[in-house]
Amino acid sequence: MTTYEIRSMTENDIPQIARIEKMVFPAPWSETAFRSELHDNAMAMYLVLADEALPDEVLAYGGIWKIFDEGHITNIAVIPKAQGKKLGKMLLHAMIQWAWGNGLSHMTLEVRTDNHVAINLYKKTGFIDAGVRPGYYDDGRTDAMVMWLHRKSASSLAAAEGSADG
Ligand SMILES: CC(C)(COP(=O)(O)OP(=O)(O)OC[C@H]1O[C@@H](n2cnc3c(N)ncnc32)[C@H](O)[C@@H]1OP(=O)(O)O)[C@@H](O)C(=O)NCCC(=O)NCCS
Repeated sequence: MTTYEIRSMTENDIPQIARIEKMVFPAPWSETAFRSELHDNAMAMYLVLADEALPDEVLAYGGIWKIFDEGHITNIAVIPKAQGKKLGKMLLHAMIQWAWGNGLSHMTLEVRTDNHVAINLYKKTGFIDAGVRPGYYDDGRTDAMVMWLHRKSASSLAAAEGSADG
C-alpha cells in the first residue's frame, strides 16, 4: 500500500509545482511567484504531498495565507496523473488541521463556479457556499464561488461524523 507524506514546500519543489500549475490552471502562477511566497511572504504557508517512497516528486500542493484569524486558500492542486485518488482530500484535511493548529478560526477560498470537482471536494469537507463574485476570473468572463469553513461548525461536523461512524 502506498503511504504518503505531507510536508512544507521547499525551494526544490518549486519547478515541479510551476509545471503542475501549467497543467491544471488557466492562469498558472510562475516559479517566481512561488519563490516570493516561500521567501518573502510571512503570511504564506505551502504544503506538499508526496509518496513516501519518492519524497522528491510533488503529487499535490496547496497554500494558505494567514490573515488575522482566517486562512485564505490560495491554491490547491493534484498532478493530473494522480487525481481522483483522494490525495486532494488528504491534503485539504492537512491544510485545515494546520490552520486550526495555528490558531485560525475560519478558512475561505474562491473557486470557479464551473469547477464541479473542486466544489464537491470543498462541500464534502464542510465548506459552505457564501455567494458569488461575478466575473472574478478570465477578465470578467467567469464567476467565482466564495466558500467558508468555520472551525466551530467543522468540529461539530467531525463530531457528528464520528458518532455516526461509531
Ligand atoms: C480539485 C482537486 C484538488 C481534487 O483533488 P483529487 O485528488 O482529484 O480529488 P479526490 O480524489 O481527493 O476527491 C475528493 C472529492 O472531490 C470530488 N471529486 C473527485 N473527482 C471527481 C470527479 N471526477 N467528478 C466529480 N467530483 C469529483 C468528490 O466529492 C471526491 O470525494 P468522494 O470521492 O469522497 O466523493 C484536483 O482534481 C485538482 O487538482 N484539480 C485541478 C486544480 C483545481 O481545480 N484546483 C482547485 C482550485 S479552487
